[in-house]
Amino acid sequence: DKAGHKHFMSKEIAEQPTVVSETLAAYIANDAGGINLPGDGFDFTKVNRIVMASCGTAYYACLTAKYWFEQLAELPVEVDFASEFRYRTPPVTDGTAAIFVSQSGETADTLAALRYCAGRASAILSVTNVPESSIARESDLNLPIFAGAEIGVASTKAFTCQLTVLLLLALKAAHARGKMSDDTLRAKLAALRGLPAIMNQAMAIEDGVRGIAQRLAKSRDALFLGRGVMFPLALEGALKLKEISYIHAEAYASGELKHGPIALIDEAMPVVVMAPKDALFDKTVSNMQEVMARGGKVILVTDAAGAEEASEGVWHTIILPDIDNEIAPILYALPVQYLAYHTAVAKGTDVDQPRNLAKSVTVE
Ligand code: F6R
Repeated sequence: DKAGHKHFMSKEIAEQPTVVSETLAAYIANDAGGINLPGDGFDFTKVNRIVMASCGTAYYACLTAKYWFEQLAELPVEVDFASEFRYRTPPVTDGTAAIFVSQSGETADTLAALRYCAGRASAILSVTNVPESSIARESDLNLPIFAGAEIGVASTKAFTCQLTVLLLLALKAAHARGKMSDDTLRAKLAALRGLPAIMNQAMAIEDGVRGIAQRLAKSRDALFLGRGVMFPLALEGALKLKEISYIHAEAYASGELKHGPIALIDEAMPVVVMAPKDALFDKTVSNMQEVMARGGKVILVTDAAGAEEASEGVWHTIILPDIDNEIAPILYALPVQYLAYHTAVAKGTDVDQPRNLAKSVTVE
């Protein structure tokens, strides 16, 4: 049932404020002072390192979480594609928490990476949308994401719910390890509880994005740039665009631009720049200006302050509501999903069933 939407993907994008609020409600204690994990929970003071291995969009959720665990909890994190991790015999020792993120909970490579860590890591945690799945069952602690069934092959609401659970986990780790006070945790949880309303507000960008997508649909290639937590979002944007619109898209960390990809820039190259007005904004904007100086067509995704400062000369600007830096990646998933969706609709591709793709990849 598409609930009046043309595609499941559009319905699932629209559901995000609701499902994210359900995820938050499941984990944030009633008095909003702490985070409840299922079962016996997990003691982050018992580990000194995290390894994460996943595939596709779930891998990008892990990459985002690396910034959170490192910055908030001061825990070193290693993230790899499950398909690489499983064959590279990585040393996984006591004191390591291994975390596997998978919407389906059945992805063959992710399951194999989990089995490799079983007996080596101190604990196996998983973040899944299917509590009965193999990955959920074979972990010491499964953290459900409460996204509800995701039908569209391109992951949308599962991604934002995965990010929500991972941010909660990083906050929990930070607090448990004495890196965050009770008051700060309380304030951050209050900010997170405001996220669904901000996501709702952000949905007002959809009409504008539809117009931009009409033009993006005529491109053969696209680049996505971002720094810090916006880098994984750029990667997710490029993946989403290529898988449903079949436009060749790549993402780079903004700082990598001048080390090669800038050679690709000409008048035919749209460049999506993910840049909320945070501590890295000026750096990203200077990369953006290098793109514009070479004729590249910039689609700047930012907030009001960022647009005020940097939208001169850009091709299009997408303005999102203000949001805390840490939470921004969850909100900035919306514009990349809308861009991919409306570009695919403009091109007339099969949005929910893109060619050559399967929803659950149970063979490697
Ligand atoms: C992209 C997408 C895939 C999955 C990947 C992992 O939109 O949906 O990249 O994220 O196949 O699947 P799960 O999360 O089920 O392990």
